[in-house]
Amino acid sequence: MCEREGIAGFALTEPAPAKINLALHVTGQREDGYHLLDMLVTFTAFGDRIAVSPAQADHFTLSGRFAAALKDDCKDNLVIKARDRLRDALRQRGAAAPPVHLHLEKNLPIASGIGGGSADAAAALRALLNLWGGAHSDHELAGRELEVLALGLGADVPMCLAARPLIARGIGEAIELRTDLPAFPMVLVNPLIGVSTPETFRLLAQKNNPKLKVPKAGTGRPCWLAAMQGMRNDLEAPAIGLAPAIASVKEVLAGSGARLVRMSGSGATCFGIYDTMAAAQHAAGTLAKMQPDWFVVATTSLGTEKLNDAA
Ligand code: C5P
Repeated sequence: MCEREGIAGFALTEPAPAKINLALHVTGQREDGYHLLDMLVTFTAFGDRIAVSPAQADHFTLSGRFAAALKDDCKDNLVIKARDRLRDALRQRGAAAPPVHLHLEKNLPIASGIGGGSADAAAALRALLNLWGGAHSDHELAGRELEVLALGLGADVPMCLAARPLIARGIGEAIELRTDLPAFPMVLVNPLIGVSTPETFRLLAQKNNPKLKVPKAGTGRPCWLAAMQGMRNDLEAPAIGLAPAIASVKEVLAGSGARLVRMSGSGATCFGIYDTMAAAQHAAGTLAKMQPDWFVVATTSLGTEKLNDAA
């Protein structure tokens, strides 16, 4: 088991924002079984955090509300895989990539449709590139090569590396940044019931659904909200079949003044979008009192600024 300790005192900390699928349309299936998706994606101020420091030997520790859920999984954690793959890539370029103490503050529920593991891996890549100098040196690893390395870690890792509003197509690798998507006050709710991603995809009744219709560039908040009403998450129906509590989550969010309520990814986390941060905070307070065992958090989605400018 990984030891538990806090995040204080590290050389560098890096946010690992939650990934929210504002929409997820399943538009087909590849020959290898993976589904083709059209996704409108944003990220939230709330998320996990990665911290790194130089160390005598490689070392990985955990803290946070959901650290215990990772338990004996530490060796297989995607953060470790990200560290190893990045080190290999940098060493091939002649960089040193010396030992590091990596820490993960796990604030997001595990396997909950908001990209936790992918967000952690992407944040580890950003933090280690900074620490090892791989982003701005002779050994620079950036652009397409970094995207390929990220994609090798998981379909959602390239978008989590961008951590800005975007549209992703294919299985998530074809990314188009959307600089006009506004920040939204949000509440995230998870009934802390795990939903199996492969099982959710397997139960899809229809795999060739209509593609995402995206507003023209420069669209303002009211138009985005209206356009998003016409979008879907095609995984909702199969996920609710597996975990009926998701329908209750959507119902309570809808009753709390949210303008738009939808499930993210393959669930079970759902989000509500509110007019103001005060409305989101009020709704989160009420929902947390109603359902003390659920994960409930008020946050804001990030705008188009670069992650570290926002932090
Ligand atoms: O991306 P992740 O590892 O969570 O995917 C788990 C499983 O979900 C895959 O092995 C696959 O069965 C299914 N999946 C899919 N199409 C995608 C993404 C995931 O069928 N685009």
